[in-house]
Amino acid sequence: MITQTSVKDAPLGFCLSEEQRLIRETVADIAQNEFAPKAAEIDRTHRFPRENFELLATADLCGMVFPEQYGGAALDHVCYAIAVEELARACATTSVVYSAHVSLCATPIYIFGTEEQRQRLLVPMCQGKKLGAFALSEPGSGSDAASACCMANLKGDHFVLTGSKNWITNGLEADYYLVIAQTDLALKHKGLVALVVEKGTPGFTFGKLEDKLGIRGSSTCQINFEDCLVPVDNMLGKVGDGFKVAMVTLDGGRIGIAAQAVGIAEGAWEHARAYARQRIAFGQTINQFQAIQFMLCEMATEIDTARLLTYHASCMQDCGEKFSQEAAIAKLYASEVAMASTVKCVQIFGGYGYVTDYPAERYMRDAKITEIYEGTSEVQRIVIGNSILKGQ
Ligand code: CAA
Repeated sequence: MITQTSVKDAPLGFCLSEEQRLIRETVADIAQNEFAPKAAEIDRTHRFPRENFELLATADLCGMVFPEQYGGAALDHVCYAIAVEELARACATTSVVYSAHVSLCATPIYIFGTEEQRQRLLVPMCQGKKLGAFALSEPGSGSDAASACCMANLKGDHFVLTGSKNWITNGLEADYYLVIAQTDLALKHKGLVALVVEKGTPGFTFGKLEDKLGIRGSSTCQINFEDCLVPVDNMLGKVGDGFKVAMVTLDGGRIGIAAQAVGIAEGAWEHARAYARQRIAFGQTINQFQAIQFMLCEMATEIDTARLLTYHASCMQDCGEKFSQEAAIAKLYASEVAMASTVKCVQIFGGYGYVTDYPAERYMRDAKITEIYEGTSEVQRIVIGNSILKGQ
């Protein structure tokens, strides 16, 4: 028996509220005017767009989903998904800098933090004064998150952290790193602990900066710890809660990546449609050929579906329902749509799609990571499978 379905548990009508429409207008305005014109340069030079994050902070978007008492705007998670989507439509790098900050670092501090931790750590993140990152994966541990072996040994009122973490988004640039570490290898996932490590802590150094296929401005690097002392006051929850903190964090993060995928696909679709309307072949614009029309129609249909799944998962999150399954479905589908749509975009541009004069190839390179990070498509299938087969 299937114990949970997407359809029955949450509202599925998507007339956006006035507030949600306003967020789309506001973020689209910033993203199209300020970020889109620089997206190619950021990609070409691998430059971290700090000024983009600062502009999002000025617009009060860095803590939009958190209560006002922490410097947030108390907006819902559909607003957040819309914001990530609009950023990705313009500049995928900026969207992941933002979503790693909000979903992967600020959110677990809000959910699992004490009042003191929220005041000390979350408030400056909402204000955009501190940038967040999430450190779960390791050189030898990615999809099998429970096998993490970066060690955290409790000594008095500090943990002594030793080991390495890989693929850290906002790697060189963040101020706070939410690190999932192991206290006792024999306990496997039940031994993990979640610690907020501040940049500049002695024993915390940076490793290799990755040279990536896409989202090239987002500063992805390895981080290393050698006898790094982290105060117990920076632990979220208690020893043994680390795996749960990571999984709950990723449930929300996966909606952010789904929204990012929708935005990338949408940006590619808009460029493809505009190009098809003006490119002449065989005496007419190519949008008059059914072959091109069908590609644009398939893209539009799939993008709309992906967007609905993404907003649906966000609604579930706002309803306080368990939403792991919906988040995984949204991410799985939206990331595959992003990949398929951006490949079609390159195809519609023909030779011009294969060179850097136009954004088509950048959208395609940016899309690929959405099928990999915050859980590969295969991991999403595991999460969905575990959920829909539970109880059989
Ligand atoms: N919420 C709360 N608890 C959860 C949970 C969830 N969503 N999912 C699992 N759990 C709990 C289970 O109930 C279980 O609890 P008990 O021990 O009390 O029974 C426990 O966690 C273990 O669960 P599983 O046996 O299902 O765990 P598993 O070892 O089989 O792993 C997995 C499951 C889904 C494959 C998980 O390891 C996973 O999500 N892997 C992918 C990790 C990932 O996404 N990494 C990306 C890192 S971030 C990034 O990409 C970089 C970046 O900066 C953007």
